[in-house]
Amino acid sequence: MSFEVDRIRSNFPALALSDEGQSRVYLDNPAGTQVTQGVIDRMADYLCRDNANCGGAFRTAKQTDEILARAHLEMAGFIGAASPREIIMGPNMTSLTFSLSRALGRRFSPGDELIVTRLDHDANVRPWIRLAEDCGATVRWLDFNPSDCRLCLDALPQLLNERTRVVAMGLASNLVGTINPIAEIAPMVHEAGALLFVDAVHYAPHGPIDVATLGADFLVCSPYKFFGPHMGVLWGREDLLASLEAYRVLPAGDCLPGKFETGTQSHEAQAGLLGTLDYLEWLGREFDRGTGTTRSENYRRAMTLIRDYEQGLSRGLLDGLSEIERVRIWGVQDLERLEERVPTVSFSVDGLSPRRVSEALARANIFVWEGHSYAVEVVERLGLADRGGVVRVGAVHYNTTAEIEKTIREIARIIDRS
Ligand SMILES: Cc1ncc(COP(=O)(O)O)c(C=O)c1O
Repeated sequence: MSFEVDRIRSNFPALALSDEGQSRVYLDNPAGTQVTQGVIDRMADYLCRDNANCGGAFRTAKQTDEILARAHLEMAGFIGAASPREIIMGPNMTSLTFSLSRALGRRFSPGDELIVTRLDHDANVRPWIRLAEDCGATVRWLDFNPSDCRLCLDALPQLLNERTRVVAMGLASNLVGTINPIAEIAPMVHEAGALLFVDAVHYAPHGPIDVATLGADFLVCSPYKFFGPHMGVLWGREDLLASLEAYRVLPAGDCLPGKFETGTQSHEAQAGLLGTLDYLEWLGREFDRGTGTTRSENYRRAMTLIRDYEQGLSRGLLDGLSEIERVRIWGVQDLERLEERVPTVSFSVDGLSPRRVSEALARANIFVWEGHSYAVEVVERLGLADRGGVVRVGAVHYNTTAEIEKTIREIARIIDRS
């Protein structure tokens, strides 16, 4: 069965909205996606019926315990983790990264080294720089090639040495869409005796993640970027997480995952996450009828279908934008190499600021972001920091070819009239 985008869209109430007769085109997805009715229902049900703190002897506390346990279990299945004890829930990726980096840093000494990249979101850069400042470590930078925004991986062996403790790298760039070949990089990092921390926040809505084969030691993602509520998730290898000393209060205990889940979590968000995962499981089951029957297999199918469908959206965006005069696209543009990017396409317009483009698109009810989108090193490296950054069109699987075509037409019109 092929990917039926209309049926997909009918799960998301926000996609049916229009304003003054103009339908909404959501291409602001890299900053947060829309949610399904199932997510909304799960969150509302939790707050109506089960709202309590955990660990109590009574009904609502027990229900809460069950929902949280189920959310950890399903999230483990979604990313191929060995156990729910490897899944740490938190308020967002940034907080989890600061917290884990501090726990790791207790083992570091002056002269140790950390590697970060110029392609990453600042949430996977600044926590490591702050840590290095505090423990006297040295930060080394892995650059990217501005012509196609791919990491300069040839330079990595020279950056790695026996003092390297951590390499922090994104799975996909939230600004220019490049997918980094983590599975190829991981053995190199481990050979040097370092740990690999992967920011999968931008990649998670676009394709399957299997931590069992990826080779990373830690991975972070944020459900609000993949059709769920506002929260973050950290995965780590159980032996590593168990061996680390968490910054925690005494009653939190020393068991996983609780020792890293500081304070009270958003229970309603974890209930909502179950709605997201139910949706993705349905998608895999419904649109790719194979022989597999487990929920984990259906997640993988769903994300593989999504990845394949989205290549058509990338093609439409790159094709369309490349035909507009004065537009310069950043990142992988070769249509033969679409598997090296997600459909997050950023561009500059000669003579027009990114903000003017996004404002003009907003008047047509097309939602896009402009600026640096927290990828501050990327815009700096591309020489765009004092030019207002870029315009970022960020598609996901609920976007249609028609929406992409409309957006391209609108961009062409805006430029033509300027
Ligand atoms: C690639 C990437 N990493 C990290 C983050 C930060 O995520 P959070 O808002 O969950 O802290 C974002 C958010 O935009 C992102 O796109």
